[in-house]
Amino acid sequence: MKMNVALFGLGRIGIMHAKNIKLNPKFILKYVYDIDKKRSLLISKKFKTSNLINPVKAFKDNSIKIIFISSSTATHIPLIKKAAENKKIIFCEKPLDLNINKIVNCKKEIKKYNPKIQLGFNRRYDPSHFALKESLLKGKIGILEKIIITSRDPAPPSYNYLKSSGGIFRDMTIHDFDMVRFYLGKDPVKEVFATATNISNQKFKKVKDYEIASCVLKSKSGVIAIINNSRHCSLGYDQRIEIFGKKGMLISGNKKKYNFFIDRYNLAYKLQLNDLYQLAIKGKKPRATYYDGEMSLRIANAAYKSLKTKKVIII
Ligand SMILES: NC(=O)c1ccc[n+]([C@@H]2O[C@H](COP(=O)([O-])OP(=O)(O)OC[C@H]3O[C@@H](n4cnc5c(N)ncnc54)[C@H](O)[C@@H]3O)[C@@H](O)[C@H]2O)c1
Repeated sequence: MKMNVALFGLGRIGIMHAKNIKLNPKFILKYVYDIDKKRSLLISKKFKTSNLINPVKAFKDNSIKIIFISSSTATHIPLIKKAAENKKIIFCEKPLDLNINKIVNCKKEIKKYNPKIQLGFNRRYDPSHFALKESLLKGKIGILEKIIITSRDPAPPSYNYLKSSGGIFRDMTIHDFDMVRFYLGKDPVKEVFATATNISNQKFKKVKDYEIASCVLKSKSGVIAIINNSRHCSLGYDQRIEIFGKKGMLISGNKKKYNFFIDRYNLAYKLQLNDLYQLAIKGKKPRATYYDGEMSLRIANAAYKSLKTKKVIII
């Protein structure tokens, strides 16, 4: 059965999602909507789909099964609420929001609708990163002891993006916090220490953000995770994960020089979409959920507290 989708937000990542939805035979891209009317019309023409003038139409149209949210972060919670009220299946990009109270309140509000929600933590779907998880579950490295994540963007985002991004931990490291939680499984993160700096690019200071950051996390069972971030990398998009255990070590490394996330995680976004279909058709729990969105932001908030107090934060 084909699923009709209404896609909200046609920016950097929204256009990529539009392409993938069009390419996937299990979905029909029925509507697109962007608050920027010109952009919305242009993209609707490009993808030969209907441009929504009034977004309410998507929620009231019974043939629409999926509300796909890839608009700016501040719009995620209001759109999730609207979609849940109207009994739609929901995909939402990360982060859920920058404010933990909004996430918790929304969770309480939509509970009565029992909505099916997949969160856009695409890295969980990357075959190379996922192979580590599978090997870990098979016991190939024995008991997990350490997770080391290097995540460096090739170049910083625009000044405008930075102004409303929520800062490096809530915008960028949030993916790495999520990957740490993914490998830890049921073992929760309990301690967070974070540090950050600006050395070569002063525009980060203007928006009270950081270009370079590192975090050390510790789980309840004692697993240590080390995250290395940079908003620039002269070698290109640098995405590496190492898991170290009692009996061995496994690495998900860079395979070639990648431009950025759309290139590096090309397959992951497509596999993520297949999982959305499984959620819609069979109610199969997706690899990343609303709860994962909430927990990653809690860790990001602890990282900011640690940065400010120069202390280890217990969560
Ligand atoms: N999973 C990932 O790899 C990944 C990568 C990049 C961005 N993101 C997330 O995706 C979201 C969008 O990021 P982006 O880089 O595409 O940003 P962007 O600024 O390029 O695009 C956002 C789009 O949303 C539109 N918009 C704003 N309010 C809207 C509304 N009420 N309804 C419909 N459209 C609206 C804007 O006009 C813009 O076109 C952010 O939450 C970001 O954190 C995720």
